[in-house]
Amino acid sequence: MGNQREQLIRAERVRELAENISTKQFVQKYSYGITILESMITGYGRKCDQRLGRSIVDTVVYRLKTAESIADKLEKKGYEISLTNAVEQLSDLAGIRVICSFCDDVYRMDEFLQQRNDIAICRRKDYIRNPKESGYRSIHLIVEMDYPLGAAGEKVRLEVQIRTVAMNYWAKLDHQLCYKTGGRRSGQSIEQIRRELRTYAEEISGIDEKMLNLRKRIEEI
Ligand code: GTP
Ligand code: MG
Repeated sequence: MGNQREQLIRAERVRELAENISTKQFVQKYSYGITILESMITGYGRKCDQRLGRSIVDTVVYRLKTAESIADKLEKKGYEISLTNAVEQLSDLAGIRVICSFCDDVYRMDEFLQQRNDIAICRRKDYIRNPKESGYRSIHLIVEMDYPLGAAGEKVRLEVQIRTVAMNYWAKLDHQLCYKTGGRRSGQSIEQIRRELRTYAEEISGIDEKMLNLRKRIEEI
């Protein structure tokens, strides 16, 4: 936790960061990224509605990271709390989550974003084919696009998470567990909950697959 003086310095840095990320310039830049990406995603969703006769996108949610959350992450990565470090070291200051109905829809959206030539995919992680130790599943893309309202050549970077409704509901509960157990050492009951969560991630993934197979059979009727 650190002594009182360290805590005061930290609080001051977080306060300064909070100020810096609420400037019009900063908010405008990341909101621009979100707006552009969101309209690409919903636009493609609508196109799929017409082509497939069903919607592939259930919900799209987005957020700008809070100062407290930026500070925690910078510290975890071993960086000092500052705007420069936030912008240079973190890729998820702006984040979009696309929640799809079925697993093949997740890959449709993933491919669509990969094929666009107005955005660059800086990094792609497929935690569906390679789930995390926790059981977490999703596709993560770090996306970059031009920011025409900024300096010449300026880019804006965002994180996109694509997952199914079922993966989302699992991740939300897992997140709640992580949040609750924060810095604390894990006790026996927490370990038990973790184990159960891991098992359910497998079961949910099995159900996702079965539902997809059913959907395909229904489509053939
Ligand atoms: P970090 O964001 O520092 O973890 O960078 P990274 O390069 O390791 O990215 P990663 O792809 O591991 O995860 C980025 C984001 O995915 C996190 O901020 C969470 O929103 C989500 N995430 C990753 N792992 C888990 C997990 O085990 N459970 C839950 N609920 N969410 C996760
Ligand atoms: Mg991580």
